[in-house]
Amino acid sequence: MKNTHFSTLLIDWYKSHHRDLPWRNTQNPYFIWLSEVILQQTRVKQGLPYYQKFVTTYPTVKDLAEAPLDEVLRLWQGLGYYSRARNLHTTAKDVLAQYNGNFPTNYEQLLALKGIGKYTAAAIASFAANAPIAVLDGNVYRVLARFFGNDTDIASPAGEKVFREIAQTNLPPQEAAIYNQALMEFGALQCTPQNPDCLFCPLQKDCAAYNTGKQNELPVKNKKIKIKQRYFYYLIFQSEEGKIALKKRNGKGIWEGLYDFFLIENEASYTEIALYDTLQEATGIELQQIIAKSNTFSHQLTHQRIEIIFVHIRSSELPNFKDLQWYSLEEAHLLPKPIIIANYIDQYFRKKQKNNKKTTE
Ligand code: ADE
Repeated sequence: MKNTHFSTLLIDWYKSHHRDLPWRNTQNPYFIWLSEVILQQTRVKQGLPYYQKFVTTYPTVKDLAEAPLDEVLRLWQGLGYYSRARNLHTTAKDVLAQYNGNFPTNYEQLLALKGIGKYTAAAIASFAANAPIAVLDGNVYRVLARFFGNDTDIASPAGEKVFREIAQTNLPPQEAAIYNQALMEFGALQCTPQNPDCLFCPLQKDCAAYNTGKQNELPVKNKKIKIKQRYFYYLIFQSEEGKIALKKRNGKGIWEGLYDFFLIENEASYTEIALYDTLQEATGIELQQIIAKSNTFSHQLTHQRIEIIFVHIRSSELPNFKDLQWYSLEEAHLLPKPIIIANYIDQYFRKKQKNNKKTTE
C-alpha cells in the first residue's frame, strides 16, 4: 500500500507548519532520547521546561549517570510516572558502562537498553542518524488509519503489525527523520483526535476517511482499560518544633524511591468513625492528637485513580515500624516527592506560615 504522494504531501506540510522545538534542532542522540522519555505521556508544553532543565543540568549522558538518583528524581518532580526517571538514570549508567558514554544510534543497540522500546529506538535512530525505520505512536496510528481508511483495531497485536507495515512502506529512505517527525506533528496539530482540521488539510483529496466521512470512526480502538480505585489516608505527624515525618517509599510500584507520609491504604473509603478506629489501631495515637483532616484529593493515573485524604497528627513520637523520620519544612521541600504531596505540603504549611506571620505582625 505504497503511496508516494502521501509522504510528499506530509513532508511539504511539515516544512511550513511544524513547531520549532529544541530537540528538533539537534542530532545528539542523548538529547533526543531525553526529549522522547520526557514526552512519553507528557504534553510538549509541559515537557519543554523539563527538557531544558535536564540538558542544562546534565549536558552529557555521563553527567546524568553520575548524578545521585535523588537529584534526578527531584528534577523530574511534577512530571509523574517516576519509573521513567529511574529508568532514565539506569540507562544513562548502562550507556556509560557499555558505550563509554557514546549514546548509540543503532536501532538494535537502542532496543537492548532499559526503558527503550520500538518507538523510542526508531525515533532516536531516525532523528539522530536518519536511519530508515518508521515510528509508530498514537498520532501515527490515527493519521494512517484515516488516510488509508484502515479499520484494524489499533490496540490489537494485528493492528500493530498492519500499521507498522503501512508506516514503513511509505517511508522515503533518504528522508526518514523528517518523515517521522512529520507523521507525528501532523497527528498532533492537524489530524487531531477530535475536530481534525479537514477543511484546510493538504491531504484531504486523497484521505479515505475524509472521502467517506469516517474521520470520527477512525482509528478503531477496542481495548478497554480497567481503572483500579485506591484510597490513600496519609497521616502527617507534626512535632512541636514544626517538623513533619516522611519516609522513603520502597518496593515496586508507583512513586518508588519518592518520599511520602505514613500511609494507610484501603480498597474502599472509610467512614469517619472507621477511619479513626483504623488510625488508632495502626498508630496507637489518641483522638485528641488529630489536628486536622483535609478534603479528598483525586489523583488520576493511566490505570488507577487514587483518592487521597491527609490527616494531621500532633505527636512528639513516631510509630517505629514505618521508617518515618522528622524533617524540617525546608528539608522536606528538597526531597523528591509525588507532586500531590509536594503541592499539599506547599499549600498547607506555607499558607499556615503566612497566616502566622500576619497575626504576629
Ligand atoms: N512527542 C514525542 N516525540 C515528539 C517529538 N519528537 N516532537 C514532538 N512531540 C513529540
